[in-house]
Amino acid sequence: MILDNEKEIEELDPQGMVNDLDTFPEQCKEAVSLGEEVEVPFDLNDFDRALVTGMGGSGIIGDLLSRLLDFPVESNRGYHLPKTARPDDLLIAISYSGNTEETLSALRDGRRRGMNTVCLSTGGKMEDYCARESVPLIKIPVGHQPRASTGYMLFPLLKLLDRAGFAGAVDFDRLLENIEALAESWNSSVPSEDNGPKKLAREFAGKVPIIYGTKRNTRVVAYRWKTQINENAKQPAFWNVFPELNHNETVGYQLGSDLMENGKAIMLKNGLDLERNELRMEIMESLFEDENIDYSLARAPKGDKFTRILGQIYFGDYFSVYLALLNEVDPSPVELIESFKSRLKRAG
Ligand code: F6R
Repeated sequence: MILDNEKEIEELDPQGMVNDLDTFPEQCKEAVSLGEEVEVPFDLNDFDRALVTGMGGSGIIGDLLSRLLDFPVESNRGYHLPKTARPDDLLIAISYSGNTEETLSALRDGRRRGMNTVCLSTGGKMEDYCARESVPLIKIPVGHQPRASTGYMLFPLLKLLDRAGFAGAVDFDRLLENIEALAESWNSSVPSEDNGPKKLAREFAGKVPIIYGTKRNTRVVAYRWKTQINENAKQPAFWNVFPELNHNETVGYQLGSDLMENGKAIMLKNGLDLERNELRMEIMESLFEDENIDYSLARAPKGDKFTRILGQIYFGDYFSVYLALLNEVDPSPVELIESFKSRLKRAG
């Protein structure tokens, strides 16, 4: 069983994605101090909204801030900012590499509109831009995959925005302790029979996961699980949210059991959903049973909102990496993304 064989894991994972997850608590701790040190040449209390722009593993940070902060945050992906962007919104641009063309373009778009800006990156063109334009840059350590740097990208911004009271009741010490406890339960040295993400990966091996969250609560978690499965396990996965999926996708299960031979749904629960959405999930379970559709449930760790959301994201990260090992693929490289980017470059 590869999941419990340290030597085989090392062979399949030479760039250390598993180790990045095992050391996630330390990453978060280091990142909090980065946020304590950031200086910005404006008063954060002057803003009543933030726009956070980024793509992929950097883009998820905007979704997380939007879910976690007691402050309006709009998450943006693409070449432009939304039409509603105003000079009195705070702009946060995130690119791990600093070279993602959509993020650099959206950053220039915001600056043209006169927005106060903070950037976060390891360097690249974003760092050059910040130096030229005197934009504050939060510089994070290089050498990981962007999607394995969620702690480095999220915590400095959480800490910065907490300084203006936007993060509500976040207790950083408690949160870091909780993340550490989760790492102790889920890390690669914990055997499969006691390890939740390993067990789930074994359940989903050879399946196409269809992940369901809820609009205002676990949407970011469902999307992150899907993208992590794509990038780490190199396989398809799909996602959707309640209640919208009950108005279209649900009907697809009518002829589902034949076509869905390899499909398996999973519903995310974290105890923070509207009662109506909880009821929808229960009814969905009975519908899956009637239509002979394979499904599972995933429950978030208990704790405050931050622990439940980040904890379930962390669980999904482990799940996707353990799935990669069961698929016998190296979780780190994203060759198709690299090849797509170079084809785009060659095309003009
Ligand atoms: C790779 C990954 C990608 C990148 C995306 C944007 O690990 O997660 O989704 O995050 O291609 O690149 P950056 O983050 O460098 O702006």
